[in-house]
Amino acid sequence: MKRNIGAKLAIYPTPVYLAATYDRDGKANVMTVGWGGVCNSIPPCVCISVRPATHTYHALMEQKAFTLNLATEDFTKEAAYCGRFSGKNVDKFKELGLTPIRSEVVDAPYIQEFPINLACKIIQIHEIGSHTQFIGQVMDVEMDEALLQKDISILEHLKPIVYGVGNDFGYYGIGKKISQ
Ligand SMILES: Cc1cc2nc3c(=O)[nH]c(=O)nc-3n(C[C@H](O)[C@H](O)[C@H](O)COP(=O)(O)O)c2cc1C
Repeated sequence: MKRNIGAKLAIYPTPVYLAATYDRDGKANVMTVGWGGVCNSIPPCVCISVRPATHTYHALMEQKAFTLNLATEDFTKEAAYCGRFSGKNVDKFKELGLTPIRSEVVDAPYIQEFPINLACKIIQIHEIGSHTQFIGQVMDVEMDEALLQKDISILEHLKPIVYGVGNDFGYYGIGKKISQ
């Protein structure tokens, strides 16, 4: 038996990424993003959807660049913090003891402590409604060497987290491999 619940974002889970930018004063900032993911293969592109009320939105509009840093179990607290506080009022990198490293290819910082960092150049912007979607072409990737060993499962080593948005607002790990 099913019940109709209307037009809702009944999508479980959402990913948890940290998008990092430089604001107009050159200060590094980072926000948590659940509305995002892969959107093209060639060239490799990812998308994030961001509300104009955020500090990040203005940095994206001005610098046309961001990095996407994949949140892992070790960084759940940091993801929750960056999704709650604004760079308008706090220096999130400093508060969390994270290190912003200037990307060599785009005008954005990546988070040194996070194991995978995608440097993205914004190539398209779509105003959708509540959110504006930024399409970022992946120009370069930094990846922990431990994840690049031969014959390992990146997912098992990385331990990414996902989010139960709209449901219990909890952070979850992912389960074991089910099939090839
Ligand atoms: C798990 C999670 C996912 C989020 N996803 C988004 C998102 O995709 N887009 C968005 O605009 N805000 C999202 N937020 C809220 C922003 O991260 C939050 O408003 C943040 O404080 C903005 O930071 P800033 O003002 O420094 O840019 C999310 C929050 C959490 C906790």
